[in-house]
Amino acid sequence: GSVVGVGQAPEAIRSRDRQLSPFEWYAEMRQETPVCYDERRETWDVFRYEDVNHVLKDHDAFTANRTLEADESSNGGSDEMPMLQTMITTGPPEHNRLRGFIDERFQPGAIREYQPQVEKVTAELLDDLENKQQFDFVDEFAIPVPVIVIAELLGIPADRREQFKEWSDALVARPEDDTQEEIQRVQQGQQQAQQEMGRYFAKLLEERQGGDGDDLVTLAANAEELSRGEKVGFCILLLLAGNITTTNLLTNTIWSFEEEGITNDVRTGAIDHEQAIEEALRYRSPIQSLKRIATEDVELNGQQIQTGDILTLWLGAANRDPEVFDDPEEFRPERGSNRHIAFGTGVHFCLGAHLARMEADVAIEQLLERFDRLDADLSDLQPLSSLYGLESLPCEVSMNAHSER
Ligand code: HEM
Repeated sequence: GSVVGVGQAPEAIRSRDRQLSPFEWYAEMRQETPVCYDERRETWDVFRYEDVNHVLKDHDAFTANRTLEADESSNGGSDEMPMLQTMITTGPPEHNRLRGFIDERFQPGAIREYQPQVEKVTAELLDDLENKQQFDFVDEFAIPVPVIVIAELLGIPADRREQFKEWSDALVARPEDDTQEEIQRVQQGQQQAQQEMGRYFAKLLEERQGGDGDDLVTLAANAEELSRGEKVGFCILLLLAGNITTTNLLTNTIWSFEEEGITNDVRTGAIDHEQAIEEALRYRSPIQSLKRIATEDVELNGQQIQTGDILTLWLGAANRDPEVFDDPEEFRPERGSNRHIAFGTGVHFCLGAHLARMEADVAIEQLLERFDRLDADLSDLQPLSSLYGLESLPCEVSMNAHSER
């Protein structure tokens, strides 16, 4: 039972172009068959904002507990291979025990205190890029920012960071095709990464238990309400849920700015960068879909869902629902209230939402301040196979001659 299930993409959005832009398919499905069963993937697909929102908030009828899935029920877990019973796959009331001990540390007030650290991390990465005219935005900026930030919050030594990136990549990998070998290869990679990370964190948690550090590993180590396996699961969850998502928020933001031709307007402040990032979350949500399982027989938008049925909730489709957003297919940073659900909703609403926003605000603002020209090359975009984002984003830059640095 891994935290992120090995799911397959629907047939309709498997081509490279459809992966880059599943939005026409979403529009068609929202209109024609808003709640619809896919026999091949054995899941209901849910496309409308109202329905997605409803399922996410009805914790009684729909659970995020993936261990209920038949193929995963055999994994009981052990010290070596913890079952990863974490908040993200546990419903109320247990959910509160698994999240309550750390919730405070991710509230806006606490997150503001991390801001100087994030500014320093970003500035150092930009120092390294300053002498280049070209670099890959993904590899050299969008990946390292969240990895280094979360490593610092957890109190992980710098020489382990490369390893972390490899582990988190393996954990969210998705099969490239649906052959049995490929699915097995990905599952084995996930299991191995999970085991290695598990061993590493188990040791670190033991070392820090009773300590008075204020890093997140020490806080977890001292949380008496958690078992050993749950503490390990928490640490792994942060890397898993926080890194590749934030990487793709940064990438999708710059991708959208370039496409809209607004990079310069954001730099000068003519377009507010916080609102523009919020719009990027809606317009190109890093997580396009979430899974739930029905715990009872229920009706959803006229369809009869049975106990045990799996639902795929398309956040990316909900975030472009014309019932909720004016001109949903347009990137409009000036839209006033932006009720997107890119961070989910209900009890599982993203723990790291405020951190991710702050990281993106700092990173994008500093990046645009540092270079007075930034051109992203959109001519050969390769979609990621895991989340919604890009494999790479080549950028050409020139320095701000008037920079005070
Ligand atoms: C949950 C998205 C960044 C930690 C979620 C969920 C979404 C999401 C959609 C809900 C999952 C569900 O309901 O099944 C995102 C996006 C991010 C981001 C788009 C970046 C742009 C982060 C960061 C962290 C984080 C930086 C931590 C450092 C978590 C955790 C949960 C979660 C722990 C589970 C919360 C719970 O079950 O109570 N995230 N996330 N996320 N996220 Fe994020």
